[in-house]
Amino acid sequence: MIKKCLFPAAGYGTRFLPATKAMPKEMLPVLTKPLIQYGVEEAMEAQCNIMAIITGRGKRAITDHFDISYELEHQIKGTSKENLLEGIRNIIEKCTFTYTRQNEMNGLGDAIYKGKALVGEKFPFAVVLADDLCINPDGDGILTQMIKLYKKYKCCIVAIMEVPKEDTDKYGVIEGKELEKDVFMVSNMIEKPDKNKAPSNLAVIGRYILTPDIFPLIKTTKPGKNGEIQITDALCKMAQKGMVIAYKFKGRRFDCGSIDGFVEATNYFYSLKNN
Ligand code: G1P
Repeated sequence: MIKKCLFPAAGYGTRFLPATKAMPKEMLPVLTKPLIQYGVEEAMEAQCNIMAIITGRGKRAITDHFDISYELEHQIKGTSKENLLEGIRNIIEKCTFTYTRQNEMNGLGDAIYKGKALVGEKFPFAVVLADDLCINPDGDGILTQMIKLYKKYKCCIVAIMEVPKEDTDKYGVIEGKELEKDVFMVSNMIEKPDKNKAPSNLAVIGRYILTPDIFPLIKTTKPGKNGEIQITDALCKMAQKGMVIAYKFKGRRFDCGSIDGFVEATNYFYSLKNN
């Protein structure tokens, strides 16, 4: 049922300036693959085949990346380099890409709301924030794990992980009751609380399963943290009137929105390549 995956990718990526001055942060490569391609591959593994990307000005490289480059194909055809394009060619063949622009930077909630035109209002959909690069070397990818859980609970799901208390101001933080191992029923969510106001150290990371009834809730959500419309606030309303599940996923997440996390991811994938 979950076939569509939304990728909010309109942000400026200021932490990587000047690299992101003329290039989208989602195109920064970890080894040879841009960040957003890792996200698309995770969504494909979870059986999604429609990738809905929220872009913005200066993000055309993303659209070009997920399209055939005839000139390049022609140049390398029959050479030893041909196989370097196999992965991306497979993605282009199997997936449909749709795009819309977020014209103003009004926050993640607003970006997701812009995606309504792409994902529709009938079915649940996945959301991937590409700068959270997630892997699970021991089994199912994070989105696959979440979609399995959706089949059981049929409600919005956020991925969470434990973070040090002093880092709660970097994340959406949940409060909840453990229903089963690693699965929490959310009672409250706060966007980037100070460590003394954080209800727990369970932080939301950039993977969500959302049901379309989130859209009217986003629409009535007032600007919150940093004057932006926060998906955390809309999900908090959802948690209070119905059900939101938080899931402590199996695997590892690299915060590729930060230089440290990006270098860590690069080292990790490099070590795999050489083993
Ligand atoms: C966003 C969300 C936040 C979440 C985080 C995960 O924040 O607003 O709730 O914890 O992604 O990476 P951002 O990192 O875009 O500021």
